[in-house]
Amino acid sequence: MSYNKLLSNFSSKIGKLLEDDDDEYNIIIRVGEEPNIKHFKAHSIILRAISPYFRDTCKNTTKKEGNLFYIEKSDISPSIFDVILRFIYTGTISMENRNNTEITKLLEAAQELKLNELVGFLKEHLIQHRNQGDLKDQKIQKIPSSITVKNVKDSCLIQSSIHPNNSRESSKSLRRRGKIQLVGSGPGDPNLLTLAAYQAIQEADVILSDKLVPNEVLKLIPSHIEVLIAAKKFCANVEASQAELNRLGLEALNQGKKVVRLKQGDPFLFGRGGEEFVFYRSNGYIPQVIPGISSCMSAPLLANIPVTHRGVASQFLVCTGTGRKNTLPEIPTYHPYRTTVFLMACHRIKQITQDLMKEGNYPAECPCVVIEKASCVDQNVIKGTIGTIADILERVGHNPPGTLVIGWSCITLA
Ligand SMILES: C[S@@+](CC[C@H](N)C(=O)[O-])C[C@H]1O[C@@H](n2cnc3c(N)ncnc32)[C@H](O)[C@@H]1O
Repeated sequence: MSYNKLLSNFSSKIGKLLEDDDDEYNIIIRVGEEPNIKHFKAHSIILRAISPYFRDTCKNTTKKEGNLFYIEKSDISPSIFDVILRFIYTGTISMENRNNTEITKLLEAAQELKLNELVGFLKEHLIQHRNQGDLKDQKIQKIPSSITVKNVKDSCLIQSSIHPNNSRESSKSLRRRGKIQLVGSGPGDPNLLTLAAYQAIQEADVILSDKLVPNEVLKLIPSHIEVLIAAKKFCANVEASQAELNRLGLEALNQGKKVVRLKQGDPFLFGRGGEEFVFYRSNGYIPQVIPGISSCMSAPLLANIPVTHRGVASQFLVCTGTGRKNTLPEIPTYHPYRTTVFLMACHRIKQITQDLMKEGNYPAECPCVVIEKASCVDQNVIKGTIGTIADILERVGHNPPGTLVIGWSCITLA
């Protein structure tokens, strides 16, 4: 089972169990030498499943020693163990106040425990810093690709026991950090949310939403959950609104909250999802991304347009109608067997269709459809050709959001 799957399967259960101090699952691990011993609270199921190292340790423990076991390991310091444990529980890691030598040691420990995602994160972090010329320390010029497990029988420093009396004290020192999920909410109809998205919405502490997410979806959010729609505050300034949402998200994460960033359609398609991923990761929180049904597929489908169809369309291209800083998009050239879908294009449909004919050699009679509010109760489908669609839309009026679909597949099922 992958690390992520494991976490998502157990995360809600773990939260409850750790708070309930359930002895069956919770163990207290003591790490370090006198007088610097640190106590950590841990979940035995996760530790067992997370890596062969912990799996063996926990097996031995329950078999041989009942409530007590000893991990014979000298080269994980309490502070490094702390980072690893936090990573196991939250999937996030903070590099604050860590020096380069510590990061290298952490990398080695993570490799030994076969925590591949943590290894990947740390390597990336080291590479970034090396590229920025931050790394003066010779020891980490060479990033270790693997590490030999040492026999450390003689230097036993980590001791573990089930110790309910210590649990409360320990859980204070191991306060959980926040968790961030970038969640796709689909095209609009709440029935088109995935189960994973629905679950994330129900379990969040804070939801940050685009103004594009329709009310029908927002209505699914339980009333006790805080919902922030920053776009309302900065509706004229997309950059400011984005920065505000990021700031609010980070603030909530630093307070240990479960944050859901609800995004229209699919989070990674023209939605700045990738940028937000980078933002949170660079602040020490690796987001979990939950895909959503994108309008680029669902809008044509809900207007009976098969984006590929044997003998009609063997290609499917998705474009934006709005380039960086609201510039005109790059215009694709005509291909008779291609369905071309434009998002964010209806407000400048006249310009785009003219450019498609002039620069892209699209024939004026090539069929076009605009699907407005796909999947919503007021979905509307407007049909025309490249030569006529802009005028038709102007005449009937546009009700955003709309997706423009171009190609012969538009009339295949008509
Ligand atoms: C910023 S993009 C986000 C796209 C989104 N990430 C997705 O995967 O659908 C917004 C554009 O998606 C399209 N769109 C979103 N929802 C739609 C809907 N319900 N019906 C038609 N088009 C929609 C419109 O072209 C709109 O301008």
